[in-house]
Amino acid sequence: MNPPDDFFAGALPAVAIRVDLEKARREDHSWKDPRNLRASYFAGDDVVQLATEAFTSYLGKNALYGALAYPSLRRYETEVVEILLRLFQARPGATGSLTTGGTESIFMAVKTARDWARQHHPTAGTPTLVVPRTAHAAFSKAADLLGLRVQRMTKSPDFRADLDGMSRAIDRDTIMIVGSAPPYPYGVVDPLPDIAALADRHGLWMHVDACVGGMVLPFVRDLGHDLPAFDFALPSVASVSIDLHKYGYAFHGCSALLLRDQALAEYQRYQFDAWPVGSYTTMNFIGSRGGGPVASAWAVMKYLGFSGYRSRVANMLEAKRKFIDGIRKIDGLEVFGAPQGTHFSFGSPSLDITVVAQEMSQRGWSFARQVDPPGMLLLMNGFHVAVVDDFLRDLDEAVSGVKAGRLRADPGPAVYTV
Ligand SMILES: Cc1ncc(COP(=O)(O)O)c(C=O)c1O
Repeated sequence: MNPPDDFFAGALPAVAIRVDLEKARREDHSWKDPRNLRASYFAGDDVVQLATEAFTSYLGKNALYGALAYPSLRRYETEVVEILLRLFQARPGATGSLTTGGTESIFMAVKTARDWARQHHPTAGTPTLVVPRTAHAAFSKAADLLGLRVQRMTKSPDFRADLDGMSRAIDRDTIMIVGSAPPYPYGVVDPLPDIAALADRHGLWMHVDACVGGMVLPFVRDLGHDLPAFDFALPSVASVSIDLHKYGYAFHGCSALLLRDQALAEYQRYQFDAWPVGSYTTMNFIGSRGGGPVASAWAVMKYLGFSGYRSRVANMLEAKRKFIDGIRKIDGLEVFGAPQGTHFSFGSPSLDITVVAQEMSQRGWSFARQVDPPGMLLLMNGFHVAVVDDFLRDLDEAVSGVKAGRLRADPGPAVYTV
């Protein structure tokens, strides 16, 4: 029977549904498999257990009504935002709110900048964002939906933002400039102090996208590694996006948008009053929002504390160092740039990396591919230190196979999503 026929024919017994849930789930990739080097974030079974308890105890509670009906959710949101503001060296008077993910945080940052610019930086033409080539696709999506224009760079020298290009692209219609800490492609932090200087010179709204690095870089810095400033210590940074459902180890959908000053929150707010049930006010794009993600973010943050995140970051940096050292020892491979966070990519100037990638997939490794330059992108997790040697051995054999002509190209397209 087709799935829709099931529905119309009558109810299925719970046991049949449980069997399907169990079986179907086992056929998926496991997000906790150490051979999975894609974007999934594991900080230990104890963390997953606590996040699960927090999440499930808030099933059915809608964060949209936090202020009215669920004060505990409102308190969790406030506490999570306060922690993030401190991690990002915000000054007194800064504020923030939680969203359902990086895309929503970015969307709201662009909306806030647009409405701020209408008052403080009006333009004759279509307001424009100047963004590095590597800025997340969500900036283009947001601009498209909000009726704005994007000037996206076409180069990324040293795998970072093209400062000269960005400087040349700024014109009278530019309202916003973006840097990432770090971007998803390559994982190399943009020259944020220089981008901030451009923002300052032209009076632009600067956004730092720390969706993937927000719960990583503060700890990288604390561990004594060299990093460009990436937070509110840069005076022109107006907003920052940080995902809790990535290296914050909350369950999906939880992210944050931080603002330098409470006064800017008025540009983020959407208010609609001509409605029979009264005023509708929200800081989000979406309306109803699960309480579970918020509760899981709060629980994990309180449980791990600063030192818990720092030790996990230290462990992932160690894994990254081992992967990179090993990759550099394999003749023909090249790591792209100097990635400071917990993900990086690599390719080859001399051999077809897509064939290597295909062989690695066949050997059971799961990772993202990169198109330009062709490459493989690896995201570190707590358990990856344990599999470095296995990965490097397989990689070495795959590279040898390509060099000897034993392996041939049959690559699928590299896609981020379908
Ligand atoms: C740097 C960066 N920004 C934004 C996003 C978008 O986040 P989400 O998939 O939660 O919408 C990602 C996702 O990987 C990212 O790496």
